[in-house]
Amino acid sequence: MAEIVIRNTNERITGEDNVRAFLNSQEVVYEHWNMEKLPADLRENFQLTDEDKNRILSIYDEEIKDLAARRGYKIWDVITLSESTPNLEELLKKFEEIHTHSEDEIRAIVGGKGIFIIKGSDEVGYFNVELEPGDVISVPENTPHFFTLMDNKKIIAVRLFIEKDGWVATPVADPQFK
Ligand SMILES: [Fe+2]
Repeated sequence: MAEIVIRNTNERITGEDNVRAFLNSQEVVYEHWNMEKLPADLRENFQLTDEDKNRILSIYDEEIKDLAARRGYKIWDVITLSESTPNLEELLKKFEEIHTHSEDEIRAIVGGKGIFIIKGSDEVGYFNVELEPGDVISVPENTPHFFTLMDNKKIIAVRLFIEKDGWVATPVADPQFK
């Protein structure tokens, strides 16, 4: 289950109900997929072939189609990052810049770990969402955020898009970021 850290106060929010209530209050969609459906050879396997990625998409076809029907996504794919990703450090440097998109950024984590840093309401400020397999999160459109990996430097995620161009990043210089 995801956990939250409020960056201004270091308060940590744990427990599914608390996490869900907090994220809902910040208009962040938070759902869960059943990771038991994933066969052993696809769990924490960061060297996925195209065929493996297609298997992941077909295993979660019902969940993907359900999200698409509710939220208008038209295309989806699987991405994986790990130490074997060429130029990982450079990629992460690029990731770790605050930005917005004209559409929401939805990710379903199916392996590894990741962290979204999201700008919340004025009272809350920036908060971290630490994600693990099964967590599905959507950063609302036009909300400053960035994504990075955690110490294990590994992730597999399903991404869904309304349109390919909707995910272009617009950088944000935010003096309030802490
Ligand atoms: Fe983003």
